[in-house]
Amino acid sequence: MSVSTSTIPVIAIDGPTASGKGTIAHRVAQALGWAVLDSGALYRLTALAVQQQGVDAADEHAVADIAEALDVRFDGDHVWLSGHDVAADIRLEHVGNLASRIAAYPPVRQALLERQRAFRASPGLVADGRDMGTIVFPDAQLKVFLVADVAARAERRCKQLKAKGFSANLADLLKDMRSRDERDRTRANAPLVAAADAITVDSSSLSIEETVQQVLDLWSGLGFPKA
Ligand code: C5P
Repeated sequence: MSVSTSTIPVIAIDGPTASGKGTIAHRVAQALGWAVLDSGALYRLTALAVQQQGVDAADEHAVADIAEALDVRFDGDHVWLSGHDVAADIRLEHVGNLASRIAAYPPVRQALLERQRAFRASPGLVADGRDMGTIVFPDAQLKVFLVADVAARAERRCKQLKAKGFSANLADLLKDMRSRDERDRTRANAPLVAAADAITVDSSSLSIEETVQQVLDLWSGLGFPKA
């Protein structure tokens, strides 16, 4: 496996499902004028493509072939898969659950590795996921491990889904979230774990703005010159 080395700064934000990583990563990137990588979207896109193409989700090599060949374009709030905007479809719970299953396959993770590293571009990248600080960008200048208790996360996800007009049940979400966390934490390959040099931020009782500010403060505290 090649190791990513670059002087282009990366802020890695890892953490469990619905810890707010995506929102925080986008806002931090916006504040710094940097690019953002939503690595979970790549696993979700692979899961969606597997479903759409009727591939056997238990066949890890067939799934890896799909991941390798993904025709994806990110454009603001739009996510194009083979020319179709699937931004809403990839957020569906069943797609997230399948993403978590196929994310445990080593060939799938390998297929997506260089694609993720290619997002590192000047003046900087904020990357969110599960293994940004451990595997994809082990040399990231700042590694944040964002946590929140599972009840707070399930409630947030429930509100988000309802706001988007989807039906959502808190008890089901809590159950799915617990099993997804468990699978992400215990898988042999690239498990969800804080990098040894990551700083843990608990957002359970913080607002989005407060959490963003904490990350920005951590970054400015490192004293890198502004790009
Ligand atoms: O972050 P998000 O919930 O969109 O990710 C969907 C799934 O993709 C996660 O449950 C996790 O299993 C997987 N994933 C991963 N590594 C990443 C990002 C996401 O394994 N870097």
